[in-house]
Amino acid sequence: MTPEEIQKTKETFIDYCHKYIQREGLEKLLDYLEKSDFFTAPSSASYHLNEEGGLCRHSINVFETAMTLYENVVKPAIESGNSPFTEPLKTESIAIAALFHDLCKTSMYRRTEKYKKDEHGRWVTYPGYEIDEKLPFGHGEKSCLIICWMMKLSEEELLAIRWHMGMFDMAENGSAQRYSFRSAMERSPLVALLQAADMLTANVMEKTTKH
Ligand SMILES: [Fe+2]
Ligand SMILES: [Fe+2]
Repeated sequence: MTPEEIQKTKETFIDYCHKYIQREGLEKLLDYLEKSDFFTAPSSASYHLNEEGGLCRHSINVFETAMTLYENVVKPAIESGNSPFTEPLKTESIAIAALFHDLCKTSMYRRTEKYKKDEHGRWVTYPGYEIDEKLPFGHGEKSCLIICWMMKLSEEELLAIRWHMGMFDMAENGSAQRYSFRSAMERSPLVALLQAADMLTANVMEKTTKH
């Protein structure tokens, strides 16, 4: 992303926060993000939006996908009476869960030189990112923790952010954790909504820069 695109993306993110979130602590959280690398960090080291500004762009994309899925899939199901859920979601909860779900990735990626072979089989370097995890607290868990330093989260927001990696988190875990994951999804439609929005956004809507 160009510096102009990064600046525009930052403005969109802050506009969305002010438009959809009225909760106490928002300004403190935005101040924290301003002082971190949130607006310039990549979304991943080697996968979706692995470029400067990617994390903020991904957070916006997940929110927009979540709103589309909510309006077109989740809300009609709730209103039709076919869903196990009867209460509609608040837009503020969708915004908080989606816009802040990956705050765990702030201050986590470090620029580095990576190596690959060129067409002649010679080793050459290219610019990339590596992970430098300073607070190894878990992925969704760490996002919840950072947000809670500045803003209170509802139970459904906590569960949605905690479990947003879905089955990616489950593969190596035991039955107790699988039970928690399953139970969390039964508590609120926000849990499955955020997983679906994140999965679709990262894998269908966002490119990986290949060197
Ligand atoms: Fe994530
Ligand atoms: Fe994500």
